[in-house]
Amino acid sequence: MKKKIRPLTRLLLLVLLAAGSLLLPSCGNSEPKYRIGVSQCGHNEWREKMNREILREALIMEEVEVSIRDAHDDSRRQIEDIRQFIAEKIDLLIISPNESEPLSPVVEEAYRAGIPVILFDRKVLTPHYTAYIGADNRQIGRDVGKYIRARLHNRGNILEITGRKSSTPALERQEGTEEVLRESPGIRIFARADARWKQEAAERAVDSLLRLYPDVDLIVAHNDRMALGAWKAAHRLRPGQHIRIIGTDAVSGNGNGIDLVAQGILDATFINPTEGDSILHLALDILQKKPFPRETLLSTALIDSSNVRIM
Ligand code: FRU
Repeated sequence: MKKKIRPLTRLLLLVLLAAGSLLLPSCGNSEPKYRIGVSQCGHNEWREKMNREILREALIMEEVEVSIRDAHDDSRRQIEDIRQFIAEKIDLLIISPNESEPLSPVVEEAYRAGIPVILFDRKVLTPHYTAYIGADNRQIGRDVGKYIRARLHNRGNILEITGRKSSTPALERQEGTEEVLRESPGIRIFARADARWKQEAAERAVDSLLRLYPDVDLIVAHNDRMALGAWKAAHRLRPGQHIRIIGTDAVSGNGNGIDLVAQGILDATFINPTEGDSILHLALDILQKKPFPRETLLSTALIDSSNVRIM
């Protein structure tokens, strides 16, 4: 059931939200019926957007209270966060696992303790979870591959900056791109570096790789932060040369992916949908024992100079 909120109340609540309140009871008079724990693997503009969507949706659901923990890209810390939620007998867990292997046992632990577990954005190795929702990362990889093929007219040298290899989106995006580029022998991914989703690591990696390899036509990075790091290194080392740079995520706001395309820093980015509201609706369906899909793959879209103004 949804509760109507007056515009002024909504504005006040959103201001409180923006001020960073992370524990959010619903705004009804009654006690919330369900406590939902969100275990985020890290914190950045993309996860911040997702958290805002989740919390905003929680505001209009009478039945839920949401609490979010951030593991700062540290798997051990995330395991502790999840164990704490289990000890608190949380009603449902939403988890974005930092790395697939180290997080698998604790996901299974929660699930076997009778807590429904929704995985979002990243996956684990165990089948013992309730549902997955997130981008179709293999499809993002394929779309990136098709874009590269079209831009380079089937010829060129590429450098790939991957996300953390022990997390599933990095593997799936890489596989998707490889699958498409296999059909274009004129395009060569001649070097690859794991920058763990971080801008600074990407900048360092591209700096060293550009010193080793003079002929680079395009750099593909698995997210926009790393794409920006790549651009910084390329801009410093090859100021006069236009190396095309592609990212993923497409978050709006100053200095984020969409803005970087608008500024001409990135050639393109691909939407990695956050859809915090859909995640919370899935959670509620599970808690209310309604039918729900075991896997929800969210779709992506290309943003480049042709449509960035509309975005
Ligand atoms: C945010 C992030 C995104 C990336 C996603 C993959 O933490 O690094 O930039 O697309 O995770 O899981």
